[in-house]
Amino acid sequence: MLPIRRLPRGTPSRRILQIARVRHLSTPSKGPCTRYTAVTHPEDVASVTASVQTLLNRANSYILPVYARPPFFLSHGKGAYVWDTEGRKYLDFSAGIAVNALGHGDEGVAQVLATEGGKLLHTSNAFHHQWAGKLAELLVTLTQKEGGLGWAPGTTSPSNDATSPSSSSGAKVFFSNSGTEANEGALKVARMVGKERWAAKSGKAWDSPECDKYEIVCFEHAFHGRSMGALSVTPNPKYQKPFAPLLPGVKIGQLNVTEDVHKLVGEQTCAVIVEPVQGEGGIHPAEVDWLRALRKRCDETGAVLIFDEILDAIAKPMTVGTHGTTFGGSPLACAVGYHVLSRLSEESFVENLKETSAILQERLSQLPEWFPSILEPSVRGKGLILGLGFKDATLPAKLVSLARERGLLILTAGKDAVRFVPSLNIGKDEVHYAVDVLESCLSVIASQ
Ligand SMILES: Cc1ncc(COP(=O)(O)O)c(C=O)c1O
Repeated sequence: MLPIRRLPRGTPSRRILQIARVRHLSTPSKGPCTRYTAVTHPEDVASVTASVQTLLNRANSYILPVYARPPFFLSHGKGAYVWDTEGRKYLDFSAGIAVNALGHGDEGVAQVLATEGGKLLHTSNAFHHQWAGKLAELLVTLTQKEGGLGWAPGTTSPSNDATSPSSSSGAKVFFSNSGTEANEGALKVARMVGKERWAAKSGKAWDSPECDKYEIVCFEHAFHGRSMGALSVTPNPKYQKPFAPLLPGVKIGQLNVTEDVHKLVGEQTCAVIVEPVQGEGGIHPAEVDWLRALRKRCDETGAVLIFDEILDAIAKPMTVGTHGTTFGGSPLACAVGYHVLSRLSEESFVENLKETSAILQERLSQLPEWFPSILEPSVRGKGLILGLGFKDATLPAKLVSLARERGLLILTAGKDAVRFVPSLNIGKDEVHYAVDVLESCLSVIASQ
């Protein structure tokens, strides 16, 4: 079982403890925690039980072997924790690769699934259902309210009045099944916008074979997905090489290098695709000034700027039949999406997230001071997408494995980093516990 930090007898209330912890942040402790150096969740061959081995044999016989997975099977979860079929408990700082925003086994989500699942699971996009429009309206109005996509903040709020017309200012949503599929759609729309803009400038038809506004700019360490289009803008030889040739006309730039922007983005560019924080590629945030330079150059050249799946233009010729999906935007998925997004956008939720993220950042920022020969000097990332860079590229995978053998699930990122992407409602106690385990694991590495 996962050892959980318990309050010693006679400790003050949780509130006082929290205040004490916040104070503790400004007075760094003397050294790293070493309470969790012992293995509690062994993974060696001798520790795999017969029933787990049977499950592994079946999986290995029938599933395409494209993933490296540890030798256990997760069976259920609650909040920030998951359990395997052997009853071992893990603290989950991977959250389904930064997906499970509300953690595991959330009662609100389960309720929506039960209610809507019993009503209308799937319609295809041949028919309307009530949830897609509702969720699209919420996405657009929240984006406007928060000042996203260039809107002035606080301009509108979701309308609950079924008779009132939409105030979406032209922003539209296309529901996809995955990040890859969303990027495929974004690239297709950008290609079409490129043709439209080329036609307006040249006075020729948008579908003229002379149109040369089709180039796409992406950046080193980017990850946009693994379909042929999304893979073409994911410039990692390991992912791309076996599947070449990919899309023509893709240019690769360097993140945060403003001097390159002018040359990189030109009249032939139809799209620039960028992650505001690169995740898979190693947790590299884009600098705001560089993003501004990209924005300016895209405006000058008529290129579409795509913030990984979100783009700033809609092609008029994207009409009935030009794009589509069978499963995307199902009633069940949209009802859950509406519920989750409503909760994520509550003020108290966001405030809590900011506090937790500050605590995690503060505690992580101490680690390079304690382990200067192992770690790069600064914490990477923003909010609750955080990472640590390593000086030796073999160590991220080692740390992930050491942490898992002590009941903490984390992920590698890029060539030289580990990342921490817990659910967005992660508790402060869990943050402290996770960093205590990390400190213990880094101490193990340092002692080897
Ligand atoms: C920034 C980014 N875009 C796109 C994708 C692809 O998403 P999916 O795996 O859902 O297709 C990922 C996946 O990690 C991602 O990190």
